[in-house]
Amino acid sequence: MTEPIKVVFVCLGNICRSPLAEALFIHELDKEGIFHSFTIDSCGTNGLHNGEAADKRTRENASKHGIAVPSISRQLTYGDIQDFDYIITMASDVYFQVLRFCETKEEQLKVHLFRKYDPKAPSANVPDPWYGGVDGFEDVFHIIKENTDYWIQYFKNNYRL
Ligand code: 4NP
Repeated sequence: MTEPIKVVFVCLGNICRSPLAEALFIHELDKEGIFHSFTIDSCGTNGLHNGEAADKRTRENASKHGIAVPSISRQLTYGDIQDFDYIITMASDVYFQVLRFCETKEEQLKVHLFRKYDPKAPSANVPDPWYGGVDGFEDVFHIIKENTDYWIQYFKNNYRL
């Protein structure tokens, strides 16, 4: 059996954006029948919400779209940098924080921006909905859903899945 492709999504708190990316990615990979080829996880850089469920607004919004967001917040470690093949950051502040964690050029090359392949806004940030109203969570849901599809297309184009 070949090794799974290991992907971790990273945001600041690991309670809004990256847990939703993790859940949507798993959902879409499953729909495509290729989930068995991946290991998917998420974490945050700031550790402020370690051990907490995803933000209630994230979970309620996703649930309206039929998506459960079960992940529990945890902080990024250097082990993640070593273990994962793709470290996909939800915004540029997180991207630069993660790059600073890396010790080698090879590790740095594993770090990407989530909207790298977004034709509407290449490499733009996924806005942080934490401080805003419920509309922000709906917007973020659609941004993450669309970009999940772009990433899955990338993996299908570059791996035998
Ligand atoms: P996230 O949103 O990075 O998408 O999980 C945030 C949640 C909490 C905080 C920052 C961002 N915080 O500083 O508590």
